[in-house]
Amino acid sequence: MKTFYVTTPLYYINAQPHLGHTYTTLVADCLSRYKRMRGYDVCFLTGTDEHGQNIERAANTQGISPKVLANQNTEAYRRLWSQFDVKYDSFVRTTDKHHYAAASQIFKRAFDNGFIYKGEYAGWYCIPCNLFGPEADIAPNCEVCNRPTERVVEESYFFKLSAFQDRLLDLYQKKPDFINPSFRRNEVINFVSSGLRDLSVSRTSVTWGIPVPLSGNHVIYVWFDALVGYLSGIGFGDPKRQEEFKKFWPAQVHLVGKDIIRFHSVYWPAFLLAAGIEIPFKVYAHGWWLQDETKMSKSRGNVVDPVQLLDHFGGDAIRYFVLREIPFGSDGNFSYDALIQRINSDLANDFGNLVSRTLKLVSKVFGKTFPEFSDLVITDKERELQGQVTLTIKSYEEYMNKLSFSKALEVIWDLLSQVNKYITDSAPWKMIDDESQRTNLATILLTSTEIIRIVTVLLSPVLPVSCSNVWNQLGIQEKLDQQRIDELEWGNVVGGCTLGKIEPVFPRLDKKSIIKKLVGPIGVNDGKKEITFAEKVQMPKDAPPATESNSSDVPRIKIDDFMKIDLRVGQVISAEKVKGTDRLLKLLVDLGTENRQIIAGIAQSYKEDELIGKKIVVVFNLQPRKMRGLDSNGMLLAASVGENEGPVLATFLEEVPNGARLK
Ligand code: MSP
Repeated sequence: MKTFYVTTPLYYINAQPHLGHTYTTLVADCLSRYKRMRGYDVCFLTGTDEHGQNIERAANTQGISPKVLANQNTEAYRRLWSQFDVKYDSFVRTTDKHHYAAASQIFKRAFDNGFIYKGEYAGWYCIPCNLFGPEADIAPNCEVCNRPTERVVEESYFFKLSAFQDRLLDLYQKKPDFINPSFRRNEVINFVSSGLRDLSVSRTSVTWGIPVPLSGNHVIYVWFDALVGYLSGIGFGDPKRQEEFKKFWPAQVHLVGKDIIRFHSVYWPAFLLAAGIEIPFKVYAHGWWLQDETKMSKSRGNVVDPVQLLDHFGGDAIRYFVLREIPFGSDGNFSYDALIQRINSDLANDFGNLVSRTLKLVSKVFGKTFPEFSDLVITDKERELQGQVTLTIKSYEEYMNKLSFSKALEVIWDLLSQVNKYITDSAPWKMIDDESQRTNLATILLTSTEIIRIVTVLLSPVLPVSCSNVWNQLGIQEKLDQQRIDELEWGNVVGGCTLGKIEPVFPRLDKKSIIKKLVGPIGVNDGKKEITFAEKVQMPKDAPPATESNSSDVPRIKIDDFMKIDLRVGQVISAEKVKGTDRLLKLLVDLGTENRQIIAGIAQSYKEDELIGKKIVVVFNLQPRKMRGLDSNGMLLAASVGENEGPVLATFLEEVPNGARLK
């Protein structure tokens, strides 16, 4: 039996999963269901990436151990996947015991083969992305998430990435299919051709990680650790699972977002080559889900919560929407308008309505059981539809094999529109009372039912719950998940089957009332442009005149200058007086992606207790500095209202998520 091994990235557990993470997993689930229906022995792996400084810090702040935090947060992922009917075969956690063994082994192999050496790392590091920054005198923002990097100077083991430049270029040349979509290949080739620096692969200032097998005080760099999860998840490192590993490795495809393609197409093959392990066949990078043209991410505070989507729309509708709406590989804007439109038009009308009107007529005319007709009147119209079905199956498979999910769905919808037209044109309901039309009527209904059967099989990787519902309505005894897509062909399969309970598969949604509900709990803005901070916090009419200076005196700056200042919503977690001062408070502020200590001169105006839970505005990209010997990482915004008055904090009139950016 042919095997197929597909992976999602291992998700960081410092934040709740959002639609962006959900996307890759839904794609992987659809692909693996499709491959199973093509007769492959499939392994679909997902999991969580649980080590690193951000987890260590978050756990410290909450006063719990990182492992306890990891246990809590990994559950959110498992729960979500089960709510979306995701059927993975393996879930790896980088805190699993056998994963420790696997990561140490790969590290050791690379070392023994001469590709790891000891040195000192002095440079910049983005803690949320676990990414080293470029050389620079002042802290550069992270090239992936744009958050400020932090300075790291410490002893470190280095991986000789520079030694792999030619071998990697050779790989991209010999296996043009390794990096997908093809336009990403050129980006990676340019990156590698411009020269590779050796990579720091251990940390000494972090303890929450896998110990380097050669030295007690180093832990393995999180990306080195997490990538090995693709091996440990199928048994590498576990003596009892060697057969499983041999069966599935190398992976057919690693599905990843475009922001992490470098880790998968440069670092990962280099690590594997260094350890003497075969490299995977393919890395496929998809685009981003955007909100108002910017990447959906927790740090920007513009995420769509998949749990709330599930509550309002159900898992299948979301699966269909994300696979159909944007071509796999491109970015796409999320909008509730588009989602509701797809549900009502594609799912409720084109598919759901076809099923219910066909099956209702069948039961009205023939009762509960499909007759086994031998004398149907097959005309050109039916022959044309049969030909169309054959072509549809072929194109669907071609597109699915290329991971062009949206195209694969498009061809099915072309077929659905033809069969809907066929029914409307033939008007079978007019034949019900005319005995002389019985055979014609049977022909139309069986043709339509047969297409429904075939489409249901083709759609089941995308819409598993609804298709199994339609399958039960058709009353076919064989199980849906045992159908083989490559053996699907036209035939009078439903003859003799007894219909199940006929009920609508996709009820239509009333857009107005849904949007009304969404505006409350999800806090969306009805698909309209994002409301800016300025629009939200309007000056009251009787506001006192500005105390600083008249507007004509103030030198103006360009919008670009303003955009350099990264302002974020923060929430005060704790506050205490800085000893020996009247003015300073030491605050711990939750900024969505991380908690920060900020020293603020607001003790005159606010008591410590009053501040807990308050939403404030923080200058996020200010260089950290020391105040009274304490680290202050950021600054609060406050109005100064008079010489003898203390500052007044800027806050919000409405609920805003922590970490949301002000612009
Ligand atoms: N832990 C690493 C992956 C290690 S794999 C060995 C990581 N984790 S992540 O949780 O930050 O991101 C996981 C995936 O979610 C990435 O592929 C990323 O591209 C994807 N997405 C995060 N936000 C996204 C969107 N807004 N849209 C689509 N996917 C995006 O990176």
